[in-house]
Amino acid sequence: MRMILVTGGAGYIGSHTVLALLGHGYDVVVYDNLCNSSYECLRRVSLIAGRNFEFIEGDIRDTAKLSQVFDDFEISCVVHFAGLKSVSESIENPLKYYDFNVGGTNNLLAVMREKEVYRFVFSSSATVYGENAAVPCVEDMPHGDMTNPYGRSKAMIEDILLDLAHSDEKWSITVLRYFNPIGAHESGLIGEDPLDVPSNLMPYITQVAVRRLPHLQIFGNDYETKDGTCERDFIHVMDLANGHVLAVARESEFGIDTFNLGTGKATSVLKMVREFERVTQIEIPMVVVGKRQGDLPQVWADVTKAKEVLDWEAQYSLPKMLEDAWRWQRKNPLGYRAASSEKVDYS
Ligand code: NAD
Ligand code: UFG
Repeated sequence: MRMILVTGGAGYIGSHTVLALLGHGYDVVVYDNLCNSSYECLRRVSLIAGRNFEFIEGDIRDTAKLSQVFDDFEISCVVHFAGLKSVSESIENPLKYYDFNVGGTNNLLAVMREKEVYRFVFSSSATVYGENAAVPCVEDMPHGDMTNPYGRSKAMIEDILLDLAHSDEKWSITVLRYFNPIGAHESGLIGEDPLDVPSNLMPYITQVAVRRLPHLQIFGNDYETKDGTCERDFIHVMDLANGHVLAVARESEFGIDTFNLGTGKATSVLKMVREFERVTQIEIPMVVVGKRQGDLPQVWADVTKAKEVLDWEAQYSLPKMLEDAWRWQRKNPLGYRAASSEKVDYS
């Protein structure tokens, strides 16, 4: 069976994708520096999968270590999640973001070319559609203006990949633009575990629900939307993971192709809170505050291309996303951090 290198495979989306790849019979090497994740997550992936996989602790900017991985394993495809993702941190420290995200990816691609591995799947983001994007977002729309270095780093990497694919027809590159990933594997053993106070809506809601945080702040309720709050295309992380499995399986495709991974449906922030309360029967205290700079009123995906070309379509409903996000948080109120000192409930 083919061996897949998953950079950033200990992270939120990476760990769910490793699980999906193992479930489809692939062998996996995870390469991660654990700067935003933990070994405990990988241990649990192996537990759920009932299979082992390789783990190398390393940085994508470390050329020698990466080269060694390609020498030690017969890698046929690289799924590349490793990178930094905080919009606010990227504004404070842009050089770090360009170093990790753009420099790191460039380094990885250079090692791949040297080792003659040409199959690459990349974690991009709906953020590349920019601040004035029409909705629904369609893949052939040009990159828009981005408000922060994180977004720009994703757009730059997409440009690098385009140039690379044009430079040599041996490359086979799939760019996946995620919309708003939420939820967790239904075991409740793995999930999203932000190190700091969450900046994203879903982990904020679940941390309020376990009373780690006192209340949710809703950033603006006077947008030109149905209920005045922003609307997003939330997608279950296992749906995303399965999209990666299909991208990996496109063995006969060459060049570069880009796909939106979303549900094609928009849900408002207020609806998310109300639906979470309905599904879990837990009240979420909230206050409406001012708009967050850079937030767009509405973002959702046109998902026609993923359906037609990848034969991929989101399967999980919003209540299921919320149930699964809640199961993970309820079983792991402090995330993976508690695992070393507290007993984990695996029931
Ligand atoms: P995450 O932080 O949970 O996972 C990223 C992983 O990469 C972590 O395990 C981290 O330790 C590792 N990493 C970071 N820099 C590294 C480096 N230099 N070398 C080796 N490993 C490194 O994030 P995630 O939510 O799983 O996101 C995965 C990818 O998807 C990222 O590239 C992110 O930008 C992209 N993405 C995420 C979202 C989202 O909302 N979560 C949306 C769109 C795109
Ligand atoms: N929100 C709140 N309160 C919070 C957190 C978020 O009201 O505490 C609102 C935001 O204002 C926004 C919505 O919830 O309207 C979603 O916010 P998120 O931060 O969860 O997600 P974003 O859509 O802002 O950003 C996400 C990823 C980015 C990615 C982008 C692509 O975090 O990495 O989607 O569309 F680039």
